[in-house]
Amino acid sequence: MTSEEVRRKYIEFFVRYGHQEIPSASLVPENDPSTLFTSAGMQPLVPYLLGKPHPQGKRLVNSQKCFRAQDIEEVGDNRHTTFFEMLGNWSLGDYFKKEQLPWFWQFLTEELKLSHEKLYVSIFDPSASLGTGGNSGVPKDNESYEIWKSLGVPEDHIFAYGVEKNWWSRSGTPEQMPAGEIGGPDSEVFYEFTQVEHDPRFGDKCHPNCDCGRFVEIGNSVFIQYQKQADGTLQELTQKNVDFGGGLERMTAATNDNPDIFETDLFSKIITAIENISGRSYQDIAVSEQFEIITDHMKAATFIIASDILPSNKMQGYVLRRLLRRAAVKFNSICGSTEKPQDLAVVSGSVIDTYAGTDMLDISKKDEIADVIRQELDKFGKTLERGLAEIEKIAQIDGKIAFDLYQTYGFPLEVLEELFAVKGQKIDRQQFNEEFSRHQQVSRQGVK
Ligand code: ALA
Repeated sequence: MTSEEVRRKYIEFFVRYGHQEIPSASLVPENDPSTLFTSAGMQPLVPYLLGKPHPQGKRLVNSQKCFRAQDIEEVGDNRHTTFFEMLGNWSLGDYFKKEQLPWFWQFLTEELKLSHEKLYVSIFDPSASLGTGGNSGVPKDNESYEIWKSLGVPEDHIFAYGVEKNWWSRSGTPEQMPAGEIGGPDSEVFYEFTQVEHDPRFGDKCHPNCDCGRFVEIGNSVFIQYQKQADGTLQELTQKNVDFGGGLERMTAATNDNPDIFETDLFSKIITAIENISGRSYQDIAVSEQFEIITDHMKAATFIIASDILPSNKMQGYVLRRLLRRAAVKFNSICGSTEKPQDLAVVSGSVIDTYAGTDMLDISKKDEIADVIRQELDKFGKTLERGLAEIEKIAQIDGKIAFDLYQTYGFPLEVLEELFAVKGQKIDRQQFNEEFSRHQQVSRQGVK
């Protein structure tokens, strides 16, 4: 299936069950300074999950553009990205588990026609051996277990995990949640790509939450029914909510029974654009990881610039700069030093073409976005080669030298960390930060 078919089927399915479609909120949250980017479909809905009446009712559905900077290290395989589209449906104190789980199951098996045998589910059990991580005081989710069984899911396809895997809040486990934060136990669905052999580096036995890539999570029904209190306890919310989120990229990959999301139509044009300017092929396993990183980062950068953010040294602007410069370093590594990183600007055009016909990106910004990327990478490109040559010469990195490299050549700290990790060296972040503050003080005094 194409991504557009999956997106449309999902929205239409939930509209049939009485949901109102709401537009994707901006990637940069409005009126919410607590976070730099929208990282889940529920984020703009928090006041309504807490009880405020939503103007469009109690059942909502959408496809939300999301960016998760915290996942940047995981990019570089066939299924992780920083930017993704989250298909979401919500019950704001309306239906609960006995509607949500059968509906999602029906969507997967009847609309997407995924084979039952390849689907596995998980439920919350605080005493589960894997990932118990503290006592939340919330009981095992027997109700979800029974619902999955009644849907014909065999017992050996139902797994139970503790708070680290089957609890969801924006800040993680119950212990990590600050006072006021909402969350709850969840129930995930995984697709098994049987052609992927289990990799024993991830453990003796494969299971749905194993990270080897055989099982991929394609949807998560979160039962948001708790709020963290100042005294550390969890209190039941007055309304019980459902917050479902599933990655469009992964669901589309599952419909094609192909574990590589980069081979879906959500990435293929972008990959082709990078192949054209680099002269390398994504199919070449020597460079596929770099392709995945460049593809993800250029896509995320295009969406961030489309949200009116420019590269800078702080907040969203720094994240954008880091994405672009990291993509430039990877681009340089796959095609040799003769290429100019600013050539990557054309890739943003392929991102826009990918989303033409959806309301995810403003197509009229095409030239403007390419210009921002060209300028940023032109600046970085001027020092990139010399900087990489300098890095080659450094026998032992420390925080101070790292700061000098940042200052002189514009390498973001995280990119330096990665370049030195290849040499088996670690950068002392504290020393880097001290040097940074010292430098800021000196330049403030200069201004005075
Ligand atoms: N909010 C849930 C998630 O992001 C659905 O996984």
